Amino acid sequence: MPRWIPLLGGVLGSTTCGLLLYAFSVFIKPLRAEFNWTAAEVSLAYAICCLIFGLMTFPAGRLSDKIGPRTVVLIGGIILAVGFFLTSTITSKIQLYIYYGVIAGFGGGMVYLPPIATAPKWWPDRRALATGLTVVGLGLGSFIMGPLAVSLIQNPAIGAGSALPVFKYVGIAMGIMAVIAAMCLQNPPAGYKPPGWNPPAPKEGAAKPGRDFTHEESIRTPQFWLLYLAYFGGSFAGLMLTGHLANHGILEMSKALALLKGVDVAALPKDLPELKTISMYGSYAVSSYAAFNALTRVLIGAIADKVGTRICFLVTFTLQVVAMLVLFPVGKTIMLLCLVSAVLGWNYGAMFTLFPATCLQYYGPSAQGSNYGLLFTAWGLAGFAGPYVGGMLLDATKSYSAPFLVAAVIVAISVVILWMIKPPERKMA
Ligand code: 2OP
Repeated sequence: MPRWIPLLGGVLGSTTCGLLLYAFSVFIKPLRAEFNWTAAEVSLAYAICCLIFGLMTFPAGRLSDKIGPRTVVLIGGIILAVGFFLTSTITSKIQLYIYYGVIAGFGGGMVYLPPIATAPKWWPDRRALATGLTVVGLGLGSFIMGPLAVSLIQNPAIGAGSALPVFKYVGIAMGIMAVIAAMCLQNPPAGYKPPGWNPPAPKEGAAKPGRDFTHEESIRTPQFWLLYLAYFGGSFAGLMLTGHLANHGILEMSKALALLKGVDVAALPKDLPELKTISMYGSYAVSSYAAFNALTRVLIGAIADKVGTRICFLVTFTLQVVAMLVLFPVGKTIMLLCLVSAVLGWNYGAMFTLFPATCLQYYGPSAQGSNYGLLFTAWGLAGFAGPYVGGMLLDATKSYSAPFLVAAVIVAISVVILWMIKPPERKMA
């Protein structure tokens, strides 16, 4: 098949996952209003979904290595669509947790991983760029889902104020998208090379090229677990922000407003027009983060194909430490907050191109599904830990200064790891 087809499968599959994951915040308010649940109760469904999604990528990747990506994505897409569809029928919290969190998260992980392990095998000449295209939909999906969900909820003939029908219609659309994505996916023949392309000769002094690592050999290298720790660190900070960025801006700008008015922040009248503007500013910071999170995935791929993944890692992770450190003080100034949010989104999104591309480069394509599937579970664990630690430290200290500092230190540890790490010696036959 033409090699752009698996890429298309990747864009479609990842957009389906983007619809699932990054726009959940738009459902929080209507679900709370409909069922009288607290924000924490609704958010728990999202945390469960991230955890299950992240943990499912390992079995999904292993299965994709064994039986090929098509069947895995097909089954995953159907499970994901069923989970979304069932979410439209919920009457209790536990149903929300099971249908959205467990079932949709389970299917989502199966749709997400196989395209990342497949499409770049067709593009040995542009591996990082191909990887970027298979994850760009995570950003695109959130852009589509946010406004789409809001308009469906408000439409008198569809949601009429309720979020539930949205899950039904979007679930059907996700199922169709995932089935098409599955049809586009297939592994290339062993040893595939695009016509007219030959692997570049190894640089003088570089290790001799050898055979690919098996999964068992890969996980016995210290590099694998160093990458795991670095991925956890970057995801911990990024996912803390996904949960808390808007709230940080709103909190700091409200404090500044209260200071101006000479009252305590809790004493600001809830219907103050400035508070509406502040809440809109919070959403600008989130949009800025989301836009750069999407953009970076393809651009960093193109850059990494030219300069290598190592330098891209070092620049983006170091920049992330600096951005996490300045995020607290810039919270009260909207322009600066949007600028720093863009930098944070750029660095966060870059990881989803750089880690799979590095894993492929270190261990070869043979076990990429299993290897990257396992590596990605670091994101699932961070998806639970990052927002939780953020919320806990916020409750304890009443500001985001401490959570952001903790996140900056954790990312700094990742910088040290990425600085030290060297590709493993390739195995000889
Ligand atoms: C990503 O954004 C799912 O968080 C993962 O690609």
